[in-house]
Amino acid sequence: MRSILDTLTMKWDGHALHLLDQRKLPTEVTYIRCQSHEDVSRAIGDMVVRGAPAIGAAAAFGYVLGAMRFAESRSGDVTKAMATVRSTLSASRPTAVNLFWALKRMHLFFESRNTKPQWLSELEREAITIAEEDISTNRRIGELGASLLSDQSNVITHCNAGALATVGYGTALGVIRDAKDQGKAVHVFVDETRPYLQGARLTAWELINDGIDCTLISDNMAGWVMKKKGINAVVVGADRITTNGDAANKIGSYSLAVLAAFHKIPFYVVAPSSTIDLELLSGEEIPIEERSSEEITHISGIRIAPENVSCFNPAFDVIPASLITAIVTEDAVNYPPYHFRSTSGKHH
Ligand code: MRU
Repeated sequence: MRSILDTLTMKWDGHALHLLDQRKLPTEVTYIRCQSHEDVSRAIGDMVVRGAPAIGAAAAFGYVLGAMRFAESRSGDVTKAMATVRSTLSASRPTAVNLFWALKRMHLFFESRNTKPQWLSELEREAITIAEEDISTNRRIGELGASLLSDQSNVITHCNAGALATVGYGTALGVIRDAKDQGKAVHVFVDETRPYLQGARLTAWELINDGIDCTLISDNMAGWVMKKKGINAVVVGADRITTNGDAANKIGSYSLAVLAAFHKIPFYVVAPSSTIDLELLSGEEIPIEERSSEEITHISGIRIAPENVSCFNPAFDVIPASLITAIVTEDAVNYPPYHFRSTSGKHH
């Protein structure tokens, strides 16, 4: 396979998008080949690929696959066809704004080029640019965020905001990677992240592979770990940040922020500016995905709760701005009150 983009999370070979099947980690490293925008939309909905920036980049390639299919068929109205491609991909998951950000960027790009003969190859280039920018953005975030960690740090993280959740390097884990590269001694306590276990399955795997010291805990241990293990910081990613500084992230983040405030531990949210939704004023407006109750009643396909028990399974919660010490983006370490604005013009 000749890869034009080749990272652990995703590979683009000019004809198909190969996504690391994150449902199989840590026991199996296999890739799923997506040949259409429907394939990509399904892969996002089914959590083959997950994590806000990774979802956005995957959707951008999905958009290209939709355009390629149109170009092959050479029939119908291209504007209509691409609107359908965009809405199919938009319907995959509701909370991470990076999905809508990437699709909007691709769609605006398409609208500005579709009369040119080379529009398809330029569209492909734009998706590759989105993916490559994600890595450089994360490196910048890592550099800025690492300054917040002291030379000896015990950090708690939640879910997976690492290389696997992005095109590469990671956001929250990017900060930890950079701190380690600067010679700081960082020990990471990894919340297992019930019910989908992104912490246990993905973050622990990623940190071990990178030689970063870590200890896995179950989510309900976080308060006690804060009290007993000298935690200096909590560092998490985000799926959508509103203009007032509220941040949606994996379910359990809110509880962690409440615990951190009680223990007077700084709580940092780390995300690219593409995660900031300038159209929303507060977290109240963020659509929170609810997923299948099987994620709670079963573990690896084995039932652990009674049949017919009623369940509530929100995939995300909202950390109120008042519980967040700072929000790290590629532009700055932002402290409240926040004055986010579109820095590049192409984000929103
Ligand atoms: O349901 P997921 O696994 O897609 O949720 C991911 C998270 O909540 C991450 O913390 C967030 O997307 C930031 S990833 C850099």
